Amino acid sequence: MITQNVTRTSAVRLDSVTKVYGRGASAVRALDGVSVAIPTGSFTAVMGPSGSGKSTFLHCAAGLDRVTSGTASIGDTDLSDMNETQLTRLRRQRVGFVFQSFNLVPALSVRHNIGLPLRLAGRRPDRHAIAAILDRVGLAGKADAHPAELSGGQQQRVAIARALITAPDVVFGDEPTGALDTVTAKEILGLLRTCVDESGQTVVMVTHDPVAASHADTVLFLADGTIVDEMAAPTADRVADRMTHLGAWA
Ligand SMILES: Nc1ncnc2c1ncn2[C@@H]1O[C@H](COP(=O)(O)OP(=O)(O)OP(=O)(O)O)[C@@H](O)[C@H]1O
Ligand SMILES: [Mg+2]
Repeated sequence: MITQNVTRTSAVRLDSVTKVYGRGASAVRALDGVSVAIPTGSFTAVMGPSGSGKSTFLHCAAGLDRVTSGTASIGDTDLSDMNETQLTRLRRQRVGFVFQSFNLVPALSVRHNIGLPLRLAGRRPDRHAIAAILDRVGLAGKADAHPAELSGGQQQRVAIARALITAPDVVFGDEPTGALDTVTAKEILGLLRTCVDESGQTVVMVTHDPVAASHADTVLFLADGTIVDEMAAPTADRVADRMTHLGAWA
């Protein structure tokens, strides 16, 4: 049970986190007392109805957004104590992001897209490191292509390579397979799985797809900004069944 205390340091931890957008009558409580400890080297899927707070959860956990109350931590680092400069450094060095829409820079080659996080951190991208990461995501030989010349699945591989180039502790995905066909989605999920199994990284992925969620070790179910359930060793059927009953809690 990952919501209980774990003795070793968690990769991602939220303690009594609330996130309120806006003020007064128009305020929206997107997260409402979320506590979770995600172990290092695990693959977690986050599911729930639209508007249940999945993206907000990811953004708060990754330091992309500030919590309203409670604390969010990456490893031993409490994000609420950090100023903007420290948060920016943490986002560049310790976490990676993959989005549904790939978010590549169209004018840049694959090589330069992947090197971007290093350049932003003031480091010069190393040719060998880029070649190695391209090989790892199955895109050897595509370094000089541009995003428009690649399929959706290949573009997402570039986005994953860009997320991995800094060797982050945690890779966050917000519906990373949402725009892909099922065969391509499975390849991308396999790639995320190898981050966990071969590199000991931690993956946290929002998805609407029970089949995608079944690639994870654990599924967290969100409804109305709270974690209402979790499932270990998920199968697509059990996840789909649980999702149909989430409406009753929502
Ligand atoms: N920047 C924002 N300003 C105001 N309200 C927001 C903002 N971001 C999210 N919300 C609100 O917070 C709630 C949770 O949104 P969130 O995007 O986390 O949901 P989600 O579970 O990711 O939904 P979806 O499955 O549609 O992506 C929603 O009511 C949403 O309208
Ligand atoms: Mg979302």
